[in-house]
Amino acid sequence: MGAPEKDPREEVLQAWYMDDSDEDQRLPHHKEPKEFVSLDQLTELGVLSWRLDADNYETDEEFKKIRESRGYSYMDFCEVSPEKLPNYEEKIKSFFEEHLHTDEEIRYAVAGSGYFDVRDRNDKWIRVWVKKGGMIILPAGIYHRFTLDSDNYIKAMRLFIGDPIWTPFNRPHDDLPARKEYLKTFVEKEVGDRAVDAAA
Ligand code: LAC
Ligand code: NI
Repeated sequence: MGAPEKDPREEVLQAWYMDDSDEDQRLPHHKEPKEFVSLDQLTELGVLSWRLDADNYETDEEFKKIRESRGYSYMDFCEVSPEKLPNYEEKIKSFFEEHLHTDEEIRYAVAGSGYFDVRDRNDKWIRVWVKKGGMIILPAGIYHRFTLDSDNYIKAMRLFIGDPIWTPFNRPHDDLPARKEYLKTFVEKEVGDRAVDAAA
């Protein structure tokens, strides 16, 4: 038997359950022992991911296809570093407040790296490490937050369908239609499927 094939995305995207310590948010916060989460498990939460050629995003056919098929007409870059981001300290704090959006959050690390933390179905934090070449889509309505890692730098491409809306709704915002829709699509549905499996 051969070794199980490694998902090539894992070179630039890794996910794991976080410990409960309130040490520096930029540390990895692995559990002891480490508890990794596969990218397929993330897909079940609605979090999609790709490994792309960040040095050639302008000519990358795979990236072009994703953009076209999903209708991402808007694109810009957000560089997070003390020198490049106005109100850096304030922004870092607000990025790390647990929040949701009424639209997808699409981020493509073209340089540097950072942690996108998302809540699983049981409200546990999963830390998603996105490095250069990693692109993720967080679905509308998922609770999440962002922090730089200890390298303190990311240049992220942001994509959007039409005019961008970046508004964060800090938790709790459970009555928003986007939240209800998220629960219906990715949380309640799975619970239903499991109940069916258990009964079979
Ligand atoms: C955002 C990240 C911080 O909303 O989640 O841009
Ligand atoms: Ni966000």
